[in-house]
Amino acid sequence: MKHSSPYLTVVVIGLLFALAYSTSHTHDHEHFLQCLQLQNSTSISEVVYTPSNSSYSSILQFSIQNHRFLSKTTPKPLVIVTPLHASHVQATIICSQLHGLQIRTRSGGHDLEGLSYISQVPFVIIDFMKYRNIQVDVEKRTAWVQAGATIGELYYSISKKSKTLAFPAGICPSVGVGGHFSGGGYGYLMRKYGLAADNIIDAHMVDVKGRFLDREAMGEDLFWAIRGGGGASFGVILAWMVKLVPVPPTVTVFRVERTLEQNATMLVMKWQIVAIKLHKDLTIRLILTTKAKFEALFLGGKDKLIPLMQERFPELGLVKEDCTEMSWVESTVYMAGSSSKSLQVLLQRTPSPPQNYKGKSDFLKHPIPESGLEGIWQLFKENGDKDAFMELVPYGGIMDEIPESELPYPHRSGNLCLVGYIVPLHQEDGDEVAQRHIDWTRKLYSYMERFVSKCPRKAYINYRDLDIGVNNIDGYTSYEQASIWGHKYFNNNFKRLALVKTKVDPLNFFRYEQSIPTLLCLRPKGHK
Ligand SMILES: Cc1cc2nc3c(=O)[nH]c(=O)nc-3n(C[C@H](O)[C@H](O)[C@H](O)COP(=O)(O)OP(=O)(O)OC[C@H]3O[C@@H](n4cnc5c(N)ncnc54)[C@H](O)[C@@H]3O)c2cc1C
Ligand SMILES: *[C@@H]1O[C@H](CO)[C@@H](O)[C@H](O)[C@H]1NC(C)=O
Ligand SMILES: *[C@@H]1O[C@H](CO)[C@@H](O)[C@H](O)[C@H]1NC(C)=O
Ligand SMILES: *[C@@H]1O[C@H](CO)[C@@H](O)[C@H](O)[C@H]1NC(C)=O
Repeated sequence: MKHSSPYLTVVVIGLLFALAYSTSHTHDHEHFLQCLQLQNSTSISEVVYTPSNSSYSSILQFSIQNHRFLSKTTPKPLVIVTPLHASHVQATIICSQLHGLQIRTRSGGHDLEGLSYISQVPFVIIDFMKYRNIQVDVEKRTAWVQAGATIGELYYSISKKSKTLAFPAGICPSVGVGGHFSGGGYGYLMRKYGLAADNIIDAHMVDVKGRFLDREAMGEDLFWAIRGGGGASFGVILAWMVKLVPVPPTVTVFRVERTLEQNATMLVMKWQIVAIKLHKDLTIRLILTTKAKFEALFLGGKDKLIPLMQERFPELGLVKEDCTEMSWVESTVYMAGSSSKSLQVLLQRTPSPPQNYKGKSDFLKHPIPESGLEGIWQLFKENGDKDAFMELVPYGGIMDEIPESELPYPHRSGNLCLVGYIVPLHQEDGDEVAQRHIDWTRKLYSYMERFVSKCPRKAYINYRDLDIGVNNIDGYTSYEQASIWGHKYFNNNFKRLALVKTKVDPLNFFRYEQSIPTLLCLRPKGHK
């Protein structure tokens, strides 16, 4: 007797649906626009842009932070909505579903693969560029941050109210809080206070039904999922409430470079042993090119730092002259690598000159042996691009104390460091050179395989990389298929993310190349 598997039936129904759907829905966005007008949302037409509005291109390009996606062939949205109220988001979510459009949500636009503004199927962008108010409450040590704010704007706003409060988030000030917080978010305060996501205490979002939810209304499962699982799989986040953390009025920074002739190999070997064991107040990040650059933040003055370094890492030969004392917010400007010391640097939404890059990530659990380092130096010499680099962000500290299941971000104890590979692609060099640089990045990544985490080889969702696996562009993607990339980003937390997804968005409306899959393949209600 022959049984057809229920799983197969579901898939077939899913496929039929996808087929019917793509032929029946009209690409005419007029109906979508009419729908928006009919929703009860205040003056929505003032925030809706179609290609016939003269400012459409400038609004679209404003947050395309990766210039390799500025090209004519990059798919463009039918409509861009720049919300000023929750109701604008609610209307967009409801009408997109009624008219067969996908949504891409954009905050700072730093997604390394452009997933906040590119889709292969007809789509609308919700761009939070005008929704970025920040309210700092010094007494309660909290802040409400709207989704379109950047981390630089947050640092700046905190510093206007207090010299001894901070927030543990990323290094590049123009990164947006919408993507950054919902994927984790590490920076120089990670060893002491954890990720940005570890310090979120409430959130406002709109779900697939257009409902406005706060933490209490969304429940702890969904609140868990959006703090590290990538927000865009679950709805649209409007704002975060974060917990601010104490820092001393004076911190110390240094940036020390050592060439191979200056024993860079030996220093990197030593760094791999000491960096994770140092006091939580001291974070030394390592940047590898053809040299080793040690960049550090210490939560205290020089007088305490120097003896600490002499005791734990004397080989580096750090002296007082290498160190600069400043306030914490000034250290964020320093780390941004800006030549200016002005806090205005934190308010620049787009890095200049414009950037183009390919990124990848890894996690290191054991030190790279000396012979392995020789191979890395060799690859950098071959590449010849002075701007390509590999960063090693030390773990230890509080990261060892937070359980893997606390948030979707699973990379906690047992890691030595996060490894990031960022390779700039220069616009003026043309496609061929750019492709060569992308190929070189993949070569370095493949060389690193023997040294980094395995089974699966882990990756950081905020260093978005479509090389590690993608969902089907249209139609159903099974949990098993998505697990290929999902376990790399989320390890054992992937299943729970899929369970939450199945509960809050069972028809998988919020989907993209690396969105969390549902555990069911259902047909939308009312579909013939
Ligand atoms: C130059 C550079 C430096 C970086 N430095 C660091 C660093 O120091 N530390 C670190 O941890 N990471 C760093 N990153 C990675 C960064 O954290 C991610 O790229 C992050 O996702 C960017 O957030 P965004 O809002 O700017 O991006 P976007 O492109 O706007 O969004 C990224 C993703 O989040 C989704 N999203 C955005 N807003 C919302 C919302 N409101 N609701 C739901 N989903 C949303 C998007 O749809 C997309 O999937 C860096 C990246 C770059 C390019
Ligand atoms: C429509 O919006 C107005 C003003 O914002 C509000 O008072 C009213 O209750 C809303 N009506 C519905 C049906 O949501
Ligand atoms: C875009 O053009 C339409 C039609 O002319 C207009 O109604 C709308 O207000 C314009 N959008 C903006 C943001 O000005
Ligand atoms: C490199 O290390 C060797 C041996 O540890 C030491 O003698 C030498 O002075 C170091 N060189 C530099 C430039 O620090």
